[in-house]
Amino acid sequence: MSSPVLHDLHPPVADLRREVLTGLEANPKWLTPMLFYDARGSHLFDAITALPEYYPTRTEIGILRDCRDELTELLGPGAVLVEPGGGNGIKARLLLDVLDAMAYVPIDIARQHLFNAAAGLAADYPEIEVHAVCADFSRPLQLPDLPRGGRRVAFFPGSSIGNFEPAAAVELLSRLAGLVGPGGALLVGADLVKDSARLEAAYDDVQGVTAAFNLNVLARLNRELDTDFDLARFAHHARYDREAQRVEMHLVSQVAQRVSLDDREIVFDAGESIHTESAYKYTPAGFRELATKAGFEPWREWLDPEELFAVFLFSC
Ligand SMILES: C[S@@+](CC[C@H](N)C(=O)[O-])C[C@H]1O[C@@H](n2cnc3c(N)ncnc32)[C@H](O)[C@@H]1O
Repeated sequence: MSSPVLHDLHPPVADLRREVLTGLEANPKWLTPMLFYDARGSHLFDAITALPEYYPTRTEIGILRDCRDELTELLGPGAVLVEPGGGNGIKARLLLDVLDAMAYVPIDIARQHLFNAAAGLAADYPEIEVHAVCADFSRPLQLPDLPRGGRRVAFFPGSSIGNFEPAAAVELLSRLAGLVGPGGALLVGADLVKDSARLEAAYDDVQGVTAAFNLNVLARLNRELDTDFDLARFAHHARYDREAQRVEMHLVSQVAQRVSLDDREIVFDAGESIHTESAYKYTPAGFRELATKAGFEPWREWLDPEELFAVFLFSC
């Protein structure tokens, strides 16, 4: 049985502590969405993708199923597929089933989830080299030596690019352009602008799974940084800001309270929130413009019939 090659470049806990403190001492308060993905958060995210309200995952999977034969022809054989935020690897499998790929390189911060997904992939696709990289993909990163000769393809599904402010999104895509190099490609999924009710429901489901996912960040900080958040005193909020074209997720303090982190006290007014995630929504033209600024050229794009979600192929 084939095994993946594992590369553990997880940032040290001191970096996490510094970033959390910076965010909680800022006004307004914020936390990086990367914090969602401890073991429980990764599990909850997978549960979110199956919720009736959460259309992005099943819509993008439908698009990928429909376009993958055309994609295989466009990309040709021997691709080296690099996936920032590979998660459970389900979408990569859809491509690896048809692409005659040489290697698959998921990069993910959730160590165990990544390693489990990579081990499953290596076993099921023994002809493909699998390199699992545990790292923060939002920072410059030295990737392991990858097989030479194949077309490098950055695969970035799930509208994860929407978690980045526009300038940071261009910076990240520019780094991906540098990674794939001339002749390389970017295959990226982006959620499209639509009515607020549908967007807000996708981030605030009736079963409360997204609320549990959001609140889990505080449980994680209690466990890993020894903070003393009382989860019952915070509530999950999601709202669409039409002007900014983004859904924002917040944890709203239900009372005036203080939380300790090391020797600091974080003071919350009643109603004050921590901004935990932005999820930008795009028009197809807006997304093309973003990727073009990063050095990519539009090649092909596919939308579902309801035009909820888009998958773009760019060349470099
Ligand atoms: C929204 S999920 C998407 C998963 C999958 N790509 C999909 O399309 O369903 C985001 C994934 O990226 C990972 N992730 C989030 N922020 C990250 C970061 N800054 N660096 C590395 N991985 C990150 C998470 O662990 C998770 O697996």
